[in-house]
Amino acid sequence: MGRTVLIVGGGGREHALAIGLLESESVDAVHVAPGNAGSASIAINHNVSAGDVGGQVELAQSLGVDLVVVGPEAPLVGGLSDALRSVGIPSFGPHADGAMLEGSKDFAKQVMLKLNIPTAGVQHLTAETNLGAAVDRWGSPWVIKRDVLAGGKGVVVTEDRDEALDFIRASIESDGMVLLEEFLSGEEASMLVMMDESGFVALPCSQDHKRVGEGDVGLNTGGMGAYAPAPVATEAVRERAISEIVEPMHAHLSSQEIPYRGCLYVGLMIDDGAPSVVEYNVRFGDPETQVTVPLISSDLCELLLAVAEGRLSKSMPTFSNNHAITVVLAAEGYPGPPVKGRPITGDLSDFTDSVGRAFIHHAGTGTSEGTLISTGGRVLAATGIASSLAEARELAYQKLSEVELEGAHFRRDIGHRAL
Ligand code: AMP
Ligand code: GLY
Repeated sequence: MGRTVLIVGGGGREHALAIGLLESESVDAVHVAPGNAGSASIAINHNVSAGDVGGQVELAQSLGVDLVVVGPEAPLVGGLSDALRSVGIPSFGPHADGAMLEGSKDFAKQVMLKLNIPTAGVQHLTAETNLGAAVDRWGSPWVIKRDVLAGGKGVVVTEDRDEALDFIRASIESDGMVLLEEFLSGEEASMLVMMDESGFVALPCSQDHKRVGEGDVGLNTGGMGAYAPAPVATEAVRERAISEIVEPMHAHLSSQEIPYRGCLYVGLMIDDGAPSVVEYNVRFGDPETQVTVPLISSDLCELLLAVAEGRLSKSMPTFSNNHAITVVLAAEGYPGPPVKGRPITGDLSDFTDSVGRAFIHHAGTGTSEGTLISTGGRVLAATGIASSLAEARELAYQKLSEVELEGAHFRRDIGHRAL
């Protein structure tokens, strides 16, 4: 069939998509814009930023691609899929209105309330609100969310009343309002649902490790590692999540004038077997993609193209019984401002043995005068795939030990809740 695909973005998620697409029999060529050093080594990178909607459409047209797969949320909120479809190019990723489920947490809450989808209660706080009464309504811990795209940095969860009030006041000052949510206890899992108007399919659930420190302490990050399948999402939990959360949302999105075509990332909190929604994202997760895409055993391109063209129900994927785990190597300073430009050395090559496979997903990497260097906070991740989680973990940490980056840090406990 010889398809040509353009992937928009430049993180670990996009490298994982590039690997998966190149393993698809239906694919001839993969382009990535802007990509990273990992995608440059297997595909063709283009120097167009992910947020440059006009530039990405022009690139897709000049390459004559059969499909565009949009990684990050910002171009989706900015209307990249709408722009591509208007020139006849299939795009995996929702239109701008659909992307508001991630673009505005307030909007997402309104939709969930209307559809009776289980989620935390919310209060809207503005300059007129009696803040003391608001924070005392549910008490500690406080969950405060700015209603802006903040790359994972717009949420504070704290047991410190003064810190809560300070963040609330600062957010109201900069944004005019802020959301105070009821605290949900339980264990989190990420359910990536491929969706178009013809149907949906939930991929194996994964679990991210959002805090920077071992034992899930310290600052929130974009994600320090993930594994799949996550046993907290038992078959019974998956069934409840599908009937109480995914089905009503799918019916709603499919009834809109423009249907939702892409990945709906459902961030779940699972408490005593009962799932509720922490957040929606309108794209693949990062690093969840790195452990989910390798579990799809059917042709990835066929799946993504089917969704982009609204014919998923006739192209359902199949999955392997493997386990995957990925461990992020972060730059010195991350999740604060990272030190960039340091050389990355060691053995980054893939290896396969009788137990399984290990390889590197690049994220913030580039080259300078022929040397591999760090260019971001999450620099790369070592990923292991095997028939058990324990073996996959062994492989990933083995691979990571072969890579060197001055000042870098990683968590040694990825997968701890399942092992
Ligand atoms: P969000 O960007 O909405 O996913 O929030 C970031 C992280 O904050 C989540 O992954 C959770 O760990 C935590 N969080 C968000 N909302 C809640 C909530 N209502 N209850 C408990 N934890 C939450
Ligand atoms: N790993 C969390 C996210 O992709 O939003």
